Amino acid sequence: MEIFKEGEESYVTIKGWIYRKRILKSKVFLMVRDSTGIIQVVFDKELDSELFNVASNLNIESAVVISGIIKKEPRAPGGFEIHAQNLEWYYVGYPFPINEDAALTDSEYLLDLRHLWIRSRKMTAILKIRHTIFEAIHEYFRNHGYYEVQAPIFVSAAVEGGATLFQVKYFDRDDVYLTQSAQFYLESLIYSLEKVYTVAPSFRAEPSRTRRHLTEFWHAEAEIAWAHLEDIMRTCEELLHYIIKKVLNERLEELSILKRNVEFLENIKPPFPRITYDDAIKLLQSKGLNVKWGDDLGADEERILTQQFDQPIHLYLFPEHVKAFYHKNHPEKREVTLSVDMLAPEGYGEIIGGGERIENEEELIDKIKKFGLNPEDYQWYIDLRKYGSIPHAGFGLGIDRVVMWICGLDHIRDAVPFPRDIRRVKP
Ligand code: 4AD
Ligand code: MG
Repeated sequence: MEIFKEGEESYVTIKGWIYRKRILKSKVFLMVRDSTGIIQVVFDKELDSELFNVASNLNIESAVVISGIIKKEPRAPGGFEIHAQNLEWYYVGYPFPINEDAALTDSEYLLDLRHLWIRSRKMTAILKIRHTIFEAIHEYFRNHGYYEVQAPIFVSAAVEGGATLFQVKYFDRDDVYLTQSAQFYLESLIYSLEKVYTVAPSFRAEPSRTRRHLTEFWHAEAEIAWAHLEDIMRTCEELLHYIIKKVLNERLEELSILKRNVEFLENIKPPFPRITYDDAIKLLQSKGLNVKWGDDLGADEERILTQQFDQPIHLYLFPEHVKAFYHKNHPEKREVTLSVDMLAPEGYGEIIGGGERIENEEELIDKIKKFGLNPEDYQWYIDLRKYGSIPHAGFGLGIDRVVMWICGLDHIRDAVPFPRDIRRVKP
């Protein structure tokens, strides 16, 4: 729809799909959409009754190529309309099975018709914001001296615990899985590239359907040589702030289609509040929750914590046993790890997980054993500690969760064009 200039009446051709149709006496009004927006097209019976008849009989979502004169029309949405002179080509659609006004819900019907529902205005707005978020992530890392790298999807050991591993039929082997995280591969790449990142899918055999879990999600992961916990917290807040600023600069129209509270996003500004796991437990207890030190915090606890702040928060220094084995223990407080989660506000909860890694070989082997794992399965990962080991840290950001929060969605499924969960691998 970006084909005309202000104040100019010119002959134009548009290609698109019928979004809405209205017939008023001797006129048909078609709202036609393409990837840039929506414009009104008028067919006047008195000028061309044949064309009027064809246009009257087109269903919603029919594809059309229309030529005519574009004019200023203050009453039309967008302020312009096209007076059709020619319907050069069209494809009459069946009556469309979805009402565009359907609410964004987790309705199974809309999920079954996902291949069609993705055309809706709301999904289109979400997908454009998602596009901008991916772009922002790449820009941030590339502008800050990170090398983009790629890790394998077929792997032979768990990163984040065996319970959520997807086993793959891989020729005649039964020890091959889909990756849960590229982290160990990124760790091995810092010895030459120092700062690396990747944007790739990760897989988790999540046994339940929740508002924030997918079995296949997009993961932005980074690993930084010589970095400590403090560096990770600063990097994460800078990255998130960069993403938000870019979306606010480029996607205000889409945020308004989604009725997102933009002011809330505009007020997000690092440094973000920091709260230790210990203090979080005390805070939750003071709110009457039945939690004790050592418990892992779930969606409910995270929701209550994030509602105490109007900024994302860093929740850090988790107990050893609630975080994966590779986390480095605190040098003085051995029962906690140098780990951090970033929680999004407004009840959304965890969007990033990261921290410092164990760099000492013996310490890593001890921890692997303490977690009931077999050091042989981690032979090459342990090997990294033998040759010029260094302090290092990294993190993983769940991109779909960030899209969900920035768009203000109720369900992570709506942040993704074709969501995958325990029951759904189609369409
Ligand atoms: O906290 P997680 O499990 O951490 C890791 O995988 C680390 N190895 C990352 C690293 O340090 N390189 O996952 C990181 C983030 C979570 O904070 C969450 O946003 C997202 O990935 N995530 C999921 N998103 C959607 N569906 C799921 N099932 C997810 N599991 C994790
Ligand atoms: Mg986590």
